[in-house]
Amino acid sequence: MSRKPSVLITGASGEMGHGLIERLAAAEPDRPVVTLDVNPLPPEVAPKVRAQIVGSILDREVLDRVNAEYEVDRVFHLAALLSTRSEFSPALAHKVNVEGTLNLLEFAQKEGESHGRPVVFFYPSSIAAYGLPDLPTKAQAGRVAEDLFNVPTTMYGANKLYCEHLGRYYARHYKQLSAGPSAAKVDFRCIRFPGLISAVTVPSGGTSDYAPEMIHAAAEGKPYACFVRPDTRIPFMAMPDAVDAIFRLVTAPREALTRTVYNIGAFAPTAGEVAAVVHEAFPGASMTTDVDEKRQGIVDSWPADVDDGAARRDWGHAPRYDFAAAFGDYLIPTIRKRYGG
Ligand code: SER
Repeated sequence: MSRKPSVLITGASGEMGHGLIERLAAAEPDRPVVTLDVNPLPPEVAPKVRAQIVGSILDREVLDRVNAEYEVDRVFHLAALLSTRSEFSPALAHKVNVEGTLNLLEFAQKEGESHGRPVVFFYPSSIAAYGLPDLPTKAQAGRVAEDLFNVPTTMYGANKLYCEHLGRYYARHYKQLSAGPSAAKVDFRCIRFPGLISAVTVPSGGTSDYAPEMIHAAAEGKPYACFVRPDTRIPFMAMPDAVDAIFRLVTAPREALTRTVYNIGAFAPTAGEVAAVVHEAFPGASMTTDVDEKRQGIVDSWPADVDDGAARRDWGHAPRYDFAAAFGDYLIPTIRKRYGG
């Protein structure tokens, strides 16, 4: 139980949660962090949170309990099924990704009503919210702005795009017909992430996973067959920059934000370019290509790069790692250490 302003992180056991918990523990050690995930936290981050709840975002009783016990004024709603996984169980994905998000938005609204302050609600969306119709259009579109090509082809992408709208509704139009001033308590802030690459964790169930999988496999000395063509290009970002961006956005002054949803980018290599730098670092690595046409189709519908001008202008998005630095200064050295080589 804590009546201090507290943080709730859902999906905290995933890749992004890992980095975010460490960042919050370092930057705001006095602010209690409560996590909710169907999986327990990795042992190295568990001691850094006040309370760890192993449970589901679909369980409203759990959320009511958090509501009764904590005074939450920041929510990081990270829990989701990723894009490849969601294509195997679309109805389940919709339940987790959409109903789960609705539960959390309701939770945040209730929290705000009970303590009277707005609740900053961070929501990670994705380049999967885009759907470019074909490769010539993708090549011609180049760096795509937020409001173009919002025609996703996956259940996950559709879920993310819809939840961006839900968040905007809770922030700006909630119960708009009620008498009196607006009762909206949710300060919804969303980033559309590119593919993320972490040196300490490997993603599960995503379609941009070929890049992180390639690097981790090479470092472990395992052969890897990449499931997309070498000329496939989408934006990527090193995990520390993703965590920095989250932190920057949630701490930005409200009045600086002109949008609820922001693209962010860092570098946009082809799969072949990723393979080449991995090969340079691990010359013995066995890397081949075995195209999975279906997953390839999904990646082909995602933009080659994103226009992140609004994030740079409004809240100073400034990734530290470009392609060379992401590999040379972060991924390769950290991964080598991790696998003991
Ligand atoms: N990287 C995620 C995926 O591939 C997209 O957000 O599913």
